[in-house]
Amino acid sequence: MNGAITFSIIKPNAVRTGKAGPILAMINEAGFEVIAMKMVRMTLEQAESFYEVHKGKSFFDSLVEFMSSGPVFVMILRHENAVEEFRKLIGATDPAKAEPGTIRKLFAISVQMNAVHGSDSDENAQRESDFFFTTSERY
Ligand code: CMP
Repeated sequence: MNGAITFSIIKPNAVRTGKAGPILAMINEAGFEVIAMKMVRMTLEQAESFYEVHKGKSFFDSLVEFMSSGPVFVMILRHENAVEEFRKLIGATDPAKAEPGTIRKLFAISVQMNAVHGSDSDENAQRESDFFFTTSERY
């Protein structure tokens, strides 16, 4: 059975430019229920740990520097088949390849500053949710 939750981050570029509200509205309109949310500014070390699967890749240092450059919104979202449905809503990692009407097509400015993160598997949705939220912070 496909999982009921996914994890998302509204990235620093989108928060900085006032796009968190419009992005949250799209998430809501698409039928996702926010079951946990907070605004945090990651330390460089936290960003390195969160993105550890990408360690060693050419974009890693730049990615973690960017992700710790300002506050982000982190959230757990509930929806049937959440991981896959959310990835449809946000579009491809590279905004140039994202479908029209997706969050990244509308709000991303580059592959790195691609406005939102969404988990790529049920396993990572759990790991990423646990990274930021205790059980009592989920509703
Ligand atoms: P995200 O969904 O947050 O997961 C990992 C991030 O790494 C991804 O979105 C992009 O922002 C970034 N990323 C992936 N591939 C590249 C790339 N080729 N160049 C720069 N950044 C990348």
